[in-house]
Amino acid sequence: MPFYQRLGDVPRKRHIQFRDNGTLLTEEVMGLEGFTGNESILYHLQSPCRVMELGPFVPTVHEEWVPDAHAHRHLKTAGVAPEGDEITGRRTLMWNADVEISLCRPSESMDYFFRNGEGDEVIFVHEGSGTLETIFGALPYREGDYVVVPRGTTYRFKPQGPQRHLVFETPGLIEIPRRYRNQSGQIVEGAPYYHRDIHPPTELHTVRERGEFAVKVRVRGGHQTYIVDYHPFDVVGWDGYLFPWTFSIHDFEPITGRIHQPPPSHQTFQGRNFVICSFCPRKLDFDPLAVPIPYHHSNLQSEEMIYYVSGNFGSRRGVEAGSITLHPSGLPHGPQPGLAEQALGIHETSELAVMCDTFHPLKLSTFARDLDDGIYWRSWYENAQPGADEAGADATGAGLTSHL
Ligand SMILES: [Fe+2]
Repeated sequence: MPFYQRLGDVPRKRHIQFRDNGTLLTEEVMGLEGFTGNESILYHLQSPCRVMELGPFVPTVHEEWVPDAHAHRHLKTAGVAPEGDEITGRRTLMWNADVEISLCRPSESMDYFFRNGEGDEVIFVHEGSGTLETIFGALPYREGDYVVVPRGTTYRFKPQGPQRHLVFETPGLIEIPRRYRNQSGQIVEGAPYYHRDIHPPTELHTVRERGEFAVKVRVRGGHQTYIVDYHPFDVVGWDGYLFPWTFSIHDFEPITGRIHQPPPSHQTFQGRNFVICSFCPRKLDFDPLAVPIPYHHSNLQSEEMIYYVSGNFGSRRGVEAGSITLHPSGLPHGPQPGLAEQALGIHETSELAVMCDTFHPLKLSTFARDLDDGIYWRSWYENAQPGADEAGADATGAGLTSHL
């Protein structure tokens, strides 16, 4: 994060003696890009290297589904049964070398701590609230939040109520788009959100507790469990630029215009070879001749995944909250026959959706296969047939108010 934060006690200068009840604390520099990127400095009661036992290493296996045909897809995730916890319950939908996208509806609580050792995470909270307990302090979250967790953050979910998460994990960095920041890192005027919309951990709770604690670390294509003899949240203070934070999709200020605004106006985060965008309720194009739904477009260099959160897509048969449309590269997509005409005069949309565009092809999982409706690719054709009624013309795909 391009701004400085500090919680708890830190010494006057870095790299000098700092004691707690006479005991010299262990200083840990958590940093990116060697020692030149963003970093935070944490002060531990115990060495964070101290491992009592090595637990099991469990490789992550993605079961790939290679479809018989290359086509647009519609996955319906609403009815997915809960399983696992906030980590083990992540079920991969699609992935490539830059990002893994999974759905999580946990049914259990975490009885261990987790750390993504080699990747950043964005957890979009579709349903539920709670607290992400972290070594940087408590991070409250609620429905509509993006929870952004940098690699190296040890954490544990304390959920309240049923949870439904859309999870992005990446070996690259999750960043605020470069064009939203000036050379000092401040978010510029004209960006769709500001620093006040970004919420770092609120309180640091230093836990002084001996025992046996399991820390599961995502590393080297799997999860390695370590048993440590001191509670991982033994930090008395930290400062720096690296910490978990939340940003609510409801705080994204949509950019609208006289005629259609292209998808980059919805960009929320930048990743390595992908972007995450938020489509929020907004006024639509106001030119008298505007066509307030998008033009057809071909994703010549990207794949487009859209997760529908809430709002008015009842006008699109089959697309509901929890639906995912996937428009893979190499194919055009856009409004279905008749929709452009029907959209004329529409001035606002209530839909809420999260989009991830990747610049390299995504692989699909067998989990995605089981959610695929198998007919979405045909919806542009069927709605162009004689006899297709207005409801039919409103069917799946690029909807009346959609950005697609
Ligand atoms: Fe699109």
